Amino acid sequence: LDDPAVDPFEVARIAADDIARLTGVAHHDIALTLGSGWGKAAELVGETVATIPATEVTGFGKPALEGHVGNLRSVRTPRGKHVLVIGARTHYYEGHGVRRVVHSVRTAAATGARTMVLTNGAGGIKHTWTPGRPVLISDHINLTGDSPLEGATFIDLTDLYSMRLRDLARRIDPTLDEGVYCQFRGPQYETPAEVQMAKTIGGHIVGMSTALEAIAARQAGMEILGFSLITNMAAGIQTTPLSHQEVIEAGQTAEPVISALLAQVIGQL
Ligand code: 6GU
Repeated sequence: LDDPAVDPFEVARIAADDIARLTGVAHHDIALTLGSGWGKAAELVGETVATIPATEVTGFGKPALEGHVGNLRSVRTPRGKHVLVIGARTHYYEGHGVRRVVHSVRTAAATGARTMVLTNGAGGIKHTWTPGRPVLISDHINLTGDSPLEGATFIDLTDLYSMRLRDLARRIDPTLDEGVYCQFRGPQYETPAEVQMAKTIGGHIVGMSTALEAIAARQAGMEILGFSLITNMAAGIQTTPLSHQEVIEAGQTAEPVISALLAQVIGQL
């Protein structure tokens, strides 16, 4: 994937073949990327047909982070849909390039998935959003300065985070709020001034993933659902310093509740 002469969609097709061979499941309907705090959802979505280490699939690198499980799972929902659960997100800040960041999304599309569910742990800008709250992503602002699209690929991003799927999620949990997700490059958390900027330009949630993946998913023609878990209030909104440990712990506390919600939503897809 690092070689510009290599076609990333061809690598995704090879990866999809690896997944079919290793899981015994030739076609997936839905893909689900698990961010911090969402890890328990896989068990609740349905019956695990196969779990494979991401390192055995072409183009997937080594997992970098605590709280991010480096595997791929094929799960069958009670209604018989096949869900590819991606527990091996590559973050932009790892510095392996945007092709690596979106490879799991393109691979999911190559396995046949038409729906992409993206989840993450993120900082909240609204004072009323306390840690542990799940929020629907209504739109995003990509502040990475990068794009998964190469060359003159002018795609429309209207209704990127599907209104239909957001409505479906709200039928299951009518208390779900929604907000605009700002993807920063990271890995440092934002300064209070950067958080104020995000607020001023229309953001409600700050994080380090998802937007680039959503763009790639749209390019692949998938319908997208995005969820953020508010793991903490962003810098300057909360007065105490931010720690990665705090983010992990908020995720662990909220995990059972939000995983059950996510499983219910996916069960309806
Ligand atoms: Cl406050 N910022 C970013 N960029 N990512 C986060 C976060 C904040 N909290 C959890 N993840």
